[in-house]
Amino acid sequence: MPKGVLRIFSGLHFELEAGDIAAVMGASGVGKTTLLNLLGALDRPTEGTVYLDGEDLFARDEMELARIRNRKIGFVFQFFHLLPEFTALENVSLPLMISGLDRLEALKKGLDILREVFLEDKAHCRPAQLSAGEQQRVAIARALINEPKLLLADEPTGNLDWKTGELILRLLLDLHKRKGLSSILVTHNDKVAQFCRKLYVMERGELKLLA
Ligand SMILES: Nc1ncnc2c1ncn2[C@@H]1O[C@H](COP(=O)(O)OP(=O)(O)O)[C@@H](O)[C@H]1O
Ligand SMILES: [Mg+2]
Repeated sequence: MPKGVLRIFSGLHFELEAGDIAAVMGASGVGKTTLLNLLGALDRPTEGTVYLDGEDLFARDEMELARIRNRKIGFVFQFFHLLPEFTALENVSLPLMISGLDRLEALKKGLDILREVFLEDKAHCRPAQLSAGEQQRVAIARALINEPKLLLADEPTGNLDWKTGELILRLLLDLHKRKGLSSILVTHNDKVAQFCRKLYVMERGELKLLA
């Protein structure tokens, strides 16, 4: 940065066991998004590393990292990040097409996963034709279509009203269990704390286990 090095973490160590679900809370700007971006290999750390399934992620080159992100990690963001020109069905099917599946097969599986988020009737709508909660359900379906092991959700209810947010949280928790995922949810929603096995608060570059 212009004013020198911005140090976000100091000696941070964090472990998530397979099948576990953890919530991460903390004030804006403490580094929650940075943490998820590192865990999901969207960013490279300047020091330290991340192990996924015992494998050192940052020993891999960019092509291999892209493949790991596509196959093993599902991301859900606060602002959905759907592609506006594509339908809900195309948005969810895209990761499968990228992983090399035939287009028709991908669309067929896309419809199956849309059913799991109760949106099969909106399959041919574009994001702008969907409510915020529906857009987030499409994004969740897209995150899960490749049957990832790890689900990373960065304030998934941050852009939703209270009631819709609660429905989305319940859906995420239900999918976490049914699909045997390992999940990390960054959230400001106190409710989530009651559902997650572990609750962390990020403060001054460290993660503190609250419960
Ligand atoms: N692309 C970037 N370049 C430089 N600094 C950044 C960038 N993104 C975030 N930061 C800084 O890193 C810190 C942590 O940000 P972030 O991880 O987004 O926090 P949180 O998600 O907890 O709000 C903040 O000080 C923020 O200003
Ligand atoms: Mg953030």
